[in-house]
Amino acid sequence: MNILLTGGAGYIGSHTAIELIEAGHNAVIADNFVNSNPSIVKRMNEIIGQTIPFYNIDVADVAALDEVFCKHKIDAVIHFAGLKAVGESVQIPVKYYRNNIDSTLSLLEIMAKHNVHTFIFSSSATVYGNMNNIPYIENMHVGHCSSPYAWTKLFIEQILADVAAVNSDFSVVLLRYFNPVGAHPSGKIGENPNGIPNNLFPYISQVAIGKLAELKIFGNDYPTKDGTGVRDYIHVVDLAKGHVAALEYAEKHKGVEAINLGTGTGYSVLDIVKTFEQTNNIKIPYQIVSRRAGDIAEYYADVSKALLLLNWKAKKTLADMCRDTWRWQTQNPDGYEK
Ligand code: WQD
Repeated sequence: MNILLTGGAGYIGSHTAIELIEAGHNAVIADNFVNSNPSIVKRMNEIIGQTIPFYNIDVADVAALDEVFCKHKIDAVIHFAGLKAVGESVQIPVKYYRNNIDSTLSLLEIMAKHNVHTFIFSSSATVYGNMNNIPYIENMHVGHCSSPYAWTKLFIEQILADVAAVNSDFSVVLLRYFNPVGAHPSGKIGENPNGIPNNLFPYISQVAIGKLAELKIFGNDYPTKDGTGVRDYIHVVDLAKGHVAALEYAEKHKGVEAINLGTGTGYSVLDIVKTFEQTNNIKIPYQIVSRRAGDIAEYYADVSKALLLLNWKAKKTLADMCRDTWRWQTQNPDGYEK
């Protein structure tokens, strides 16, 4: 199948493009490089030994998007493109709603024009909000989101459900990611946050390589096994393979399915520090500080639906996540070339 990946040069998009091609599909990338740059596509080509067609466009630009669909017979779309910094979304909500929702509406218009009916959406566990028991299950109530970023994911899920309700040939899979971490085992592509990382794994790896002095652990007074926050970390390569499985499911089924992509296991911040240190034989200095606004104590996925519908489950271990993160960091101390 010919798959268009919007935001396909980003962290998860780039890893997914590689798994799609290795599974025998063809990938086309549309990306405005707001969270990435063309050097990533060059490295992707090195990993797979072929040239992936890419278009430096804003997905909200219908004319530019239409041109891509005219040039390539697209069979399905995986929609990664979107602004994704939770904290930033609180500061500039209008930009997040405008960007994330407009790009989706433009994409849906052009897909309809070209009779493309298969849509895999990069959603997030944050749509479960902070009112649900754990583990999170797909049929739970969604809402009570803690950021505009999370609300954009939930609004887009609703838009896709409404479109599917009046298009019997439309097939949508809403992939609710837990905490994607790690890097391709080649060390050529990985997580490349702009500025000081907000997320735990890239922050730890920058402490390990000496770019940051110490890890600040946001609270150790949560009602968890050791007081620090617990999350469901999933290796980005497992996550990418989950997209391939979702695509192949969507090709055979119509309607809308929400599916968790996680491991089903929660690890605390101190678990991550310890595993990172042991796996990479390196010390991570840290200091316990006050809780971060918006954080919740613990969440992880119920992963039975992904196994049942997609015959997919995460295979990589926490040590794999730490090892691959460190290999990417040591091979690319300053991230991608600009
Ligand atoms: C993990 C744990 C922190 C940094 C985020 C997004 C979410 C999703 C996944 C897209 C928490 C603690 C972190 C640090 C710390 N992305 N921490 N010191 O917040 O679970 O989820 O990524 O959908 O939208 O919000 O991930 O890595 O920021 O935090 O102690 O410097 O690590 O308190 O317990 P989070 P995270």
